[in-house]
Amino acid sequence: MKVCCFGSLNIDRVYALDHIVRPGETISSTDYAVHAGGKGLNQAVALSRTGLDTCHAGKIGPEGLFLRDILDRAGVDTSRVIVDEHSVTGHAIIQVETSGQNSILLFGGANQSITADERRVVWESLPAGSLVLFQNELNDTDILIREAHERGFKVAFNAAPMNEAAKACPYEYVDFLFVNETEAEALTGETTAPRQLEKLAALCPGIVVLTLGSNGARVACNGETWSHGIFPVRAVDTTAAGDTYTGFFLAAYLDSGSIPEAMALAARASALTVTRPGAAESIPTLDEVLHTTLPSD
Ligand code: RIB
Repeated sequence: MKVCCFGSLNIDRVYALDHIVRPGETISSTDYAVHAGGKGLNQAVALSRTGLDTCHAGKIGPEGLFLRDILDRAGVDTSRVIVDEHSVTGHAIIQVETSGQNSILLFGGANQSITADERRVVWESLPAGSLVLFQNELNDTDILIREAHERGFKVAFNAAPMNEAAKACPYEYVDFLFVNETEAEALTGETTAPRQLEKLAALCPGIVVLTLGSNGARVACNGETWSHGIFPVRAVDTTAAGDTYTGFFLAAYLDSGSIPEAMALAARASALTVTRPGAAESIPTLDEVLHTTLPSD
């Protein structure tokens, strides 16, 4: 099966800090780096690093060409990445504090300018039966999901970042839903994982994946639920941990049809991601995930 990630490509400007800046505070960063990122790009890289036949659809401005190169080097088919001379590439200002925790400020740029014609060209280019993976960093996410479903594609949706547009999406068309606890609370109004999962399952008929940070993840499907913990590694940068989880879960599930196997592989992969700095470049290959010994193995 071909998987198409239709999503954002960002230039991540990453600042290392003792702590994330508080309102009214000015602090100096101890380090600065530019990385490839965007939830879309990261998830495409994760999918491809599992060995899946992956393409990416999205839009960048001229200064974002290195993002396309990074996708190319990761083995992703980038023929559906538009380079618009008149757009500014999306970017993110990311603060990473000593604990590895982050905070992200986004500028959508080209990611927010996908037109109806550009969507149509992508749909017409995809083989029947493809799976399309979305996040909420492009404009018109609700329309993207609806059109993909109406064209007969399987739909996976990482409802992040959570905002009014994400809340308005047609969850009844989603085959795989990925949310963290904050996003789940915004979507359901519930504060506990079991209640969140129950309400998410009522909203979305597919497989619902709820990630819970250091508490691992829970999955609901057809009235059944599963849990899996994390591998307790020392985190240096949590950026792209959720993206890695999404890519590896999807790939493992498509391969095995087993939710427990998909949860185990995704937990291993995201544990490795947080031990490395940056976004896309911190995502491991399937080989590394299978052959690296992790704490509590
Ligand atoms: O999920 C991490 C990503 O969120 C970063 O790479 C950043 O670009 C934002 O999109």
